[in-house]
Amino acid sequence: MFSLIYRSKVRESLDHDAIQALMQKSSRFNAQNKITGCLVYHDKNFIQLLEGNEKKVRNLFGKISKDSRHKDIVLLNLEENNFPLFSKFSMIHNNFKDLTDQVRHKRMLFHEIFHAADIVRSPGSSKLTLWAQVNSLLNIEDKHAYSNM
Ligand SMILES: Cc1cc2nc3c(=O)[nH]c(=O)nc-3n(C[C@H](O)[C@H](O)[C@H](O)COP(=O)(O)O)c2cc1C
Repeated sequence: MFSLIYRSKVRESLDHDAIQALMQKSSRFNAQNKITGCLVYHDKNFIQLLEGNEKKVRNLFGKISKDSRHKDIVLLNLEENNFPLFSKFSMIHNNFKDLTDQVRHKRMLFHEIFHAADIVRSPGSSKLTLWAQVNSLLNIEDKHAYSNM
């Protein structure tokens, strides 16, 4: 199980429809190619974890790297893992209009992800913990993940 993590900056803000379109196309392609992981979008930044067959993940990253919707792409981590962290491909993004505890927690998590690239860069347990947190947040949110966008 090969995993790849990168971060990038959005070129122009993506509106609801643009996010929806990106997510729908990505989910379909990734499911067909047994690629799991997560795309996090926050404050004009992306961070994405892709996991699956090495060739497929590298090919997809090649396409993503050429996508004009984002820039300043930085590869953070390439790793071989025994198991996938995510059971499917999902996207998470923040909606600051909603200030429930859950959203506050999410905001903290985003800051942790985007301002702790060193954690993401290093192999091992701290990185796993970080993605595990993202994962649990996604599970809580799954039922209204799309309505939240
Ligand atoms: C931040 C970001 C993440 C993306 N993630 C994926 C993804 O996980 N899977 C996917 O199929 N396309 C993803 N895309 C879209 C690809 O860059 C590309 O548009 C898509 O693979 C379609 O390529 P094609 O027109 O050559 O078929 C992403 C684009 C951006 C900007």
